[in-house]
Amino acid sequence: MTHLLEIRDLTCGYGRINVLHNISLAIGAHGNVGLFGPNGHGKTTLLRAVSGLVRPRSGSISFNGTELTTLSPKAIVELGVIHVSQGNRLFPDLTIGECLSLGAYTKAARQREAASREEVLSIFPKLKERWTQKVRTLSGGERQMVSIATALMSCPKMLILDEPTLGLSPKVKEELCAAVIRISGHGVPIICVEQDVEFLLELSQHLYLINHGEVGAEIKPGQTMDHSEIMSLYFGK
Ligand SMILES: Nc1ncnc2c1ncn2[C@@H]1O[C@H](COP(=O)(O)OP(=O)(O)OP(=O)(O)O)[C@@H](O)[C@H]1O
Ligand SMILES: [Mg+2]
Repeated sequence: MTHLLEIRDLTCGYGRINVLHNISLAIGAHGNVGLFGPNGHGKTTLLRAVSGLVRPRSGSISFNGTELTTLSPKAIVELGVIHVSQGNRLFPDLTIGECLSLGAYTKAARQREAASREEVLSIFPKLKERWTQKVRTLSGGERQMVSIATALMSCPKMLILDEPTLGLSPKVKEELCAAVIRISGHGVPIICVEQDVEFLLELSQHLYLINHGEVGAEIKPGQTMDHSEIMSLYFGK
């Protein structure tokens, strides 16, 4: 099977500590991947290694056949790998319209800007109503929508989402999850870290539990799992 992204024997860390230990996982050409696991066990580090923000100590990351571990974050973005970081990283004084326009910064994305904007607003219709509103006046859920919408404006070939629903109320979370599913319907493959495994199962064909910087368990495409099985995976039997 050909993979869109293939991570092999990846080791990463900070200072003298290794956080990821020879981890290997793959994302298929037509599927999403979900990552879950306890806090502090290396999920964000793994995503940051893919987007070039953490330099691996060993191992390889291949995207569409291109080795990413030697490339700069800018070069990785130019390949279409777009990372929406955990937490709010938007400029507070920009309007929604300005954020989305910034997202379309590559030449190719700029040429498609009007069409992308229409597509993005069909995924997040709420942003249209608030087009001229500044980020600082938006709720947490709306900011998360702007972050993801801005990423989509760059016409990603793969979208990386790190806990997009963190801190949102159940109703807003439901709205955001539905939008992420809609993005996937537009044919953009997604790697998503989330604590809500049931949402991940809806979004992804393939799930990995990241535990102590290793793959602790895997839910493979076609494999079904009920709530109690997932909980025992997470917390141990
Ligand atoms: N910049 C950094 N410098 C030093 N240590 C770091 C840095 N970033 C993360 N760590 C450490 O690496 C480990 C893994 O962190 P990481 O953020 O990858 O975990 P995570 O699984 O995403 O956690 P969470 O669920 O809380 O987001 C933690 O022990 C964390 O303290
Ligand atoms: Mg994290």
